[in-house]
Order: sequence, then structure tokens, then C-alpha cells
Amino acid sequence: MNLIKFPLLLLSICMLMAACFSGKKNTTSNEPVSLKNVFKKDFGIGTALNTEQIQEKDPKAAVLIPQQFNMATPENIMKAEIIHPQWDNYNYELADKMVSYCEKNNIKVNGHTLIWHSQLPLFARRIQSVDSFKTFFTDHIKTIASRYDGKVYSWDVVNEALNEDGTMRKSVFLQKLGDDFVTEAFRTAQAAAPNTQLYYNDYNNEQPAKRAGCIALIKKIQSAGVRIDGVGIQGHWHLGRIPLKDIEESIIQYAALGLQVMFTELDIEVLPRNFQGADVSQRMNTTASSNPYPNGLPDSLQQKLADDYASLFKLFLKYKGKVTRVTFWGVNDGQSWLNGWPIRGRTNYPLLFDRNFLPKPAFNSVIALKRK
Ligand code: XIL
Repeated sequence: MNLIKFPLLLLSICMLMAACFSGKKNTTSNEPVSLKNVFKKDFGIGTALNTEQIQEKDPKAAVLIPQQFNMATPENIMKAEIIHPQWDNYNYELADKMVSYCEKNNIKVNGHTLIWHSQLPLFARRIQSVDSFKTFFTDHIKTIASRYDGKVYSWDVVNEALNEDGTMRKSVFLQKLGDDFVTEAFRTAQAAAPNTQLYYNDYNNEQPAKRAGCIALIKKIQSAGVRIDGVGIQGHWHLGRIPLKDIEESIIQYAALGLQVMFTELDIEVLPRNFQGADVSQRMNTTASSNPYPNGLPDSLQQKLADDYASLFKLFLKYKGKVTRVTFWGVNDGQSWLNGWPIRGRTNYPLLFDRNFLPKPAFNSVIALKRK
């Protein structure tokens, strides 16, 4: 070895060792940076899965999903209208496929959702008698929760039972079964699925009034001696308007009830919207300015999105242990429901991966929090 090469070799060895000790990825490895690995010791990282992804028909998604995520929620296929289309007919095909796909890939499934006023089958919406509705409610929970007990990790037992002011939503469940239907749903799920975590899930339940209603609801379940393990804050937020203070206060208050706190449907809306939240029945009219970025998001907004995601994950990391899961509502921008809601046919950019499954600046800003 000559005198010029030796110091160079020494320098490279030192740089490699420094990278290893600072926890940085070995740059010679081709292993992609993965959210689930980077946040392994902090919380689970989930995604919503659509039908194509569950059926492994989408080759790029089939590579990315197991690489990035260790938890998953079916975007639609466990909702009542699909899994229980008629009174006596349950359709388990896709739910079974999801369970086996996730088992194969070491992904924990969060069942979504047993009781929700939306995406109900026609027969359930048409039931007139209270007695028959009660039978539908109990049978639905018992049948599905027991079939998947121990196969899914958790259930969103009840979704979106609250109004924005914290009062109970006047849903078909409330009208037919009264105020206690949430407690009864958890009681039935607890008996049918003793090995499954049970959660309440809603949007805007980080906002003070709705949060207060949510806390009252949780306390009611707990004081009836019924098990509830966690609360999901959906997290459909808006660019530049992430309610960080309310989110922090919510983590503290929900965790004080002994519950796990999860962010269950995270995405950040970057397009014009005249309301907040995620009431799927709410719509907006198409106007000349409602789809401003059909050919790509301007860099300034891309950076803003990266900053918003970084602030959010910084907060989640501050409360790791209390925050147990962060689930994105979709794998990539092209597959997000926000391309079709509340206006059809828009080009939206709410997630960490772009339409080609490539990581966006927002992905890098989230990862960078762990590389400092
Ligand atoms: C959405 C799905 O993403 C869409 O594909 C479907 O058309 C409507 O529902 N809150 C929830 C989710 O709890 O189930 C909703 O998912 C989004 C809002």
C-alpha cells in the first residue's frame, strides 16, 4: 500500500464507522429506507388497503406495502355493505384474503368497522322494527367479530357516533337503539372477540367540543364495566392547518383514560375545500378552480406538506408509548380517496408516496426526524 492510499483508506473506514454509530443507513446497502423499520421502537405504521392491493393485482403496491407497513386497515371490504350484503348472507371472501395476505407479510390487521351509519347494506337501512334492527346489530357484531377473533389484531368497533359539538349523532343506530348503542356494541364485541383489541374511531375528535363528547362516551363504556382499549383519531387534516395543540391535548387526555391513542386515517388535503373533517355524505360542487394542480404539486406546496408531516411526526414521537399506531389512508397519492371526495376527478397529493410509488419530500422529512 503506498503512502497516498493509506490515509484515504483510513478515512473511509472512519466515515463508515461514524455512519454506523450515528445510526445512519449503511450507504453501500441497497435496502430501501422503510417507515416501519425507522419507527419500529416508537409505534406501528399502517396503511389502508383497497381491493386491488388485497388481491395483489397491483405489482408495485405488492412490493411497497410489506416493505413500508406493519399494520393495515381495509379501506372498504369489511364495511357492512360488503361483508354483510343481505340479512342471511355474509361475504367473507375479500376479508379472508386480507387476513391471509397480512399474515403472510407480518402485517397486523385493524378491522374497519363493525358499527357505522355509512356504507350500510340496503336491507339494514330498510329495517323498520326496533326488534329486527336489534337482531341485525347483535348478529352482525357477533358473527363477524367471532369469525376474525385472533385473526385481526383490532376492531374499530364503532365509527363516527358523534356530532361536531360532542352530542351523539342522530344515526339510524341511535334512533333505533338509543344512546347506549355504543356501549352495547363494545359489550357484544368483547364477548365475541376476547382476543382482539377494541377501539372507538372518529374524525375531528381532537377538536375540544367533539373530544369532550368522545371522552364522555369512553367513560360511559368504562363505567359499564365494558372493555375499550383505544381511541382512533382519523386525522384527515388540511395543509398548513394541522391542529397540533388540539392533537397534543387529545393524546394527553385520551391516554389519561388508560387508552392507546391511534392516528387511523392520516392524510393531508392540499386542494381547496370549504369544510373540515371527513363526513363522507358531504360533497362540494366542481368549479373552475377546484382542481388546480392536475400536472403536479408546486414545489412550495410540496415543501409545506413535508413540513406539516414533520411537525406531526415530531409530536407523535414526543408521545410514543401513548401513540401506538399511525395509519395512512392509502398507499400512494394516486390511490387516495381524496381524488374522488368531496369532488370527483381531482388530482390530490395527500400522502408520503407519489403516483409512481416513489417517496416524496414529505417521506424524507418524516424519516429525517429519526436521523438527527
Ligand atoms: C372512505 C373510503 O376511503 C372510500 O373509498 C369510500 O368510498 C368511502 O369511505 N372515514 C372513514 C373511512 O372511517 O371508512 C372512509 O373511507 C373515510 C372517512
